[in-house]
Amino acid sequence: MKQAVETKPIKEEASKAIDSKTQQQIKKIIEATEGQAGAPIRVLQKAQGLIGYLPREVLEIIAREMRIPLSEMYGITSFYSFFSMVPKGKYVIQVCLGTSCYVKGGQKIIDTLKKELGLESGGTTADGRFSLQTVRCIGCCGLSPVLAINEDIHRRVKPSRLKDILSSYR
Ligand code: FES
Repeated sequence: MKQAVETKPIKEEASKAIDSKTQQQIKKIIEATEGQAGAPIRVLQKAQGLIGYLPREVLEIIAREMRIPLSEMYGITSFYSFFSMVPKGKYVIQVCLGTSCYVKGGQKIIDTLKKELGLESGGTTADGRFSLQTVRCIGCCGLSPVLAINEDIHRRVKPSRLKDILSSYR
């Protein structure tokens, strides 16, 4: 049974941060997923694809429109590592720590990148250039260890090559 939630008009500050066109797009996404299994996750994924991340205002809009408690939206967003409530960098580095990549040195790659960028996993550099994440298998296990920078897949990566890889995105 659906939990009853208070329906309030979108807060003024939410309206300011997310323009009306974006709000309409979010409403369309919600309509398109109505009744589907896993609808909240799908909506969050599409909203993140639209905006780049999930600011609090967007979670408020989705919770209100889907009549789902806001706390549940926060729960989903914090449970899945692919959701982010903060803006991501221009280049998102995803280091694979799936079994094959882990066995072939994935941990050393993430450790080296953390040191090189001065970041923890999930963080973004102060200049907004790089975000660092870990993921579980990106489907190139035969070429492990693997990392992705946006759409680019870097295969059989060695820690000693990381400086050069990063410099090509600076
Ligand atoms: S385990 Fe890394 S690509 Fe599959």
